[in-house]
Amino acid sequence: MTLMILPGLIDIHVHMREPGGTHKEDWDSGTIAALAGGFTTVLAMPNTRPPIVDAATLAASLDAARTKARCDYGQYLGAGPDNVETAPALAPRVSGLKMYLDQTYGPLRLDEMTLWMEHFAAWPKRSPIVAHAESRTLAAVILLAALYDRPVHLAHVSLREEILLIRAAKERGLKVTCEVAPHHLFLSDADIPVLGGSRGSGRGEVRPRLATAADRQALWDNLAVIDCFATDHAPHTVAEKDGENPPPGFPGLETALPVLLTAVDDGRLTMDDLVARMATNPRRIFGLPEQPDTWIEVDRAATWDIHAAAMHSRCGWTPFEGWRVRGRVQRVVLRGQDAYRDGQVLAAPGSGRNLYAE
Ligand code: NCD
Ligand code: ZN
Ligand code: ZN
Repeated sequence: MTLMILPGLIDIHVHMREPGGTHKEDWDSGTIAALAGGFTTVLAMPNTRPPIVDAATLAASLDAARTKARCDYGQYLGAGPDNVETAPALAPRVSGLKMYLDQTYGPLRLDEMTLWMEHFAAWPKRSPIVAHAESRTLAAVILLAALYDRPVHLAHVSLREEILLIRAAKERGLKVTCEVAPHHLFLSDADIPVLGGSRGSGRGEVRPRLATAADRQALWDNLAVIDCFATDHAPHTVAEKDGENPPPGFPGLETALPVLLTAVDDGRLTMDDLVARMATNPRRIFGLPEQPDTWIEVDRAATWDIHAAAMHSRCGWTPFEGWRVRGRVQRVVLRGQDAYRDGQVLAAPGSGRNLYAE
C-alpha cells in the first residue's frame, strides 16, 4: 500500500434531493457517498421540491441536515422570481445564491433578465453568486459581474467558447471564478451511445450536455483557468434514467477523486493542481473555515474497477461504470474522528456541521 495524505476534499456542487426526492438521495445517503469519495464538505444545491428560496424552506433543509449529515455542509439559496427582497437577509446562513438561467432539472429557473439584474444588485457582495449559465447566457452573466462589480462563480463549464470567455474575463480583471465537472473532463458526446440505458441515450442526459471532444480538450488546455473541480453530483435512479423523459444528471461523489488521480498518473495534471481545485480554491471562494484535524488517506497504488453496485449513493448507477482507476480512499478523518475507514462509514448521522451556522 502506498499511502498518500490529502486534505479533506470540498465539493461545492452537490444535489442532496431532500426534500422531495429522497428516493434518489437524502442528507444521509448523500453525505455517506461524499465521505466514501474523500469529501469532508459538501455544498448543497437548492433545486429540491419545494425549492429552497425562503426562510421556511431553508430551515426545512437545514433541519434534515442537522439530524442526518455525516460530513460538514452548506446549503445554497435559490434565486426565484419572488425573493429578490427577502433573499439578502438569509445570506449569512447559506453558501451563496444559486441562479438557474438555462433549462435544467426542476422548475427553479429565472427567465427574465431584469430579475437577474435585481438579484445581482441586491445580493451581498461578500456572499457568492453561483450561476448555471451556458454559452451566451454565460456571457451575459459575466457582463452583470462587471456592471455590478461583484464576484460570480460559474457552475459546470463545459464548452470551449465558455472557457475562452472566462479566460478573457479573468485577463481583464473581472471577478469571475469557475468549476468544471469530471464528466465534462473525461466524457464527450461520443460516449452518449455507450452510456446507453434500455431506451438509448437516457443515461447520457445531463446539463450542460456532454460536449464535443474538442470542447473537452479545450478544458484540459485551459486548466489554469479552472478554479475548482466540482462533481455536480445529480443522482437520479436507474429506473428514472432508463424510463420515459429521463431527467438530466450524473452522480459523481464516489468517482471524482479516483478518475482525477488516474489522470495524475497519466500526466494530465499534477497533485498540486488537484488539491488546489478540490480543497484550497473552493475554501477561498466560498469563505469556508478550516477543518482542524481533518484529512483523507488514499491508497495510491490500489487499482480497481468502478462499479455502481459497490457505491453508497441511492441512484444505483454511474457514468464511469467499468472504468479502471488507480487510487482509493482508505480513511477519512473529520475533526479528529474516524469518519470512514476501509469501506465502513463510521461518522454518525448528524455529526456533520453546518459551516454557515450563525
Ligand atoms: C442537475 C439536477 O439533476 O439537479 N442536473 C444536471 O443535469 N446537472 C441540475 C443542474 O445542475 O443543472
Ligand atoms: Zn446546473
Ligand atoms: Zn447541479
